Amino acid sequence: MTFEPKIVAFLCNWCSYAGADLAGVSRIQYPPNIRIIRLMCSGRYDPVIVLETLINGADGVLLTGCHLGDCHYIVGNYYAERKFKMLKKLLALTGLESERLRLEWVSASEGARFAEIVKEFTNQIKTLGPSPLSGETPNPDLLENLLAAQMAVAGFRLRVLVGREKSLIDEGNIYGERLSQEDFDKIMSDSIAVEYLRSKIYLMLRKEPLSVKELSKRLNVDSQKALQEIVVMRRHGMVALGSVEGTTPLYVALEAGR
Ligand code: FES
Repeated sequence: MTFEPKIVAFLCNWCSYAGADLAGVSRIQYPPNIRIIRLMCSGRYDPVIVLETLINGADGVLLTGCHLGDCHYIVGNYYAERKFKMLKKLLALTGLESERLRLEWVSASEGARFAEIVKEFTNQIKTLGPSPLSGETPNPDLLENLLAAQMAVAGFRLRVLVGREKSLIDEGNIYGERLSQEDFDKIMSDSIAVEYLRSKIYLMLRKEPLSVKELSKRLNVDSQKALQEIVVMRRHGMVALGSVEGTTPLYVALEAGR
């Protein structure tokens, strides 16, 4: 049986959706593999929902909006682009092919372009094959990784960083210190890695109590790093000391720490 990808497409109301509509009324053919979700603006898509879509087995997610400078809410698509950059970096850590996520700008007059993008993306997903998270038996490790990624983007830190990228570069922090794009990208990449690691630790400890040594082995990180994260997570009320086995402390996740 040939593989027909399931692609979820988030379209902004004012440009991309109108572009898709134009493709329809102009009778331009494109593959019927996309399921459309209409948003008022591309800036409104939530990274948590995008990951939820992939967790639920979508083979690809297409995000579209008005061209930069044409957003009906002025800057919504710039936010969409920043969220997309963050999601791509995060997906790269999970092991799911980040090519399953794509961002494109389509104006209301670009029906043919919309059809071409859907055609291209569908072919790209066909080449990649079905998502390892689709079907009856999704890959459990990958699923756990995606859940950790979802927890990371639901947190305060990444959301604030995405929201403040422009102001931190153009206006600076409360002391008036401005960041270069390079510095910001480094801060963002480091924050993504840390938030993802903490979410992985949290999800592991929610299943069973574990020692720092065991965590470092399962996560393939230095035990010093694992301990450092446990200390921070204890301070944030995410984990607690559950018991002591011999002389080894075992940690557990706290429900309220999510
Ligand atoms: Fe289309 Fe904002 S209204 S991207």
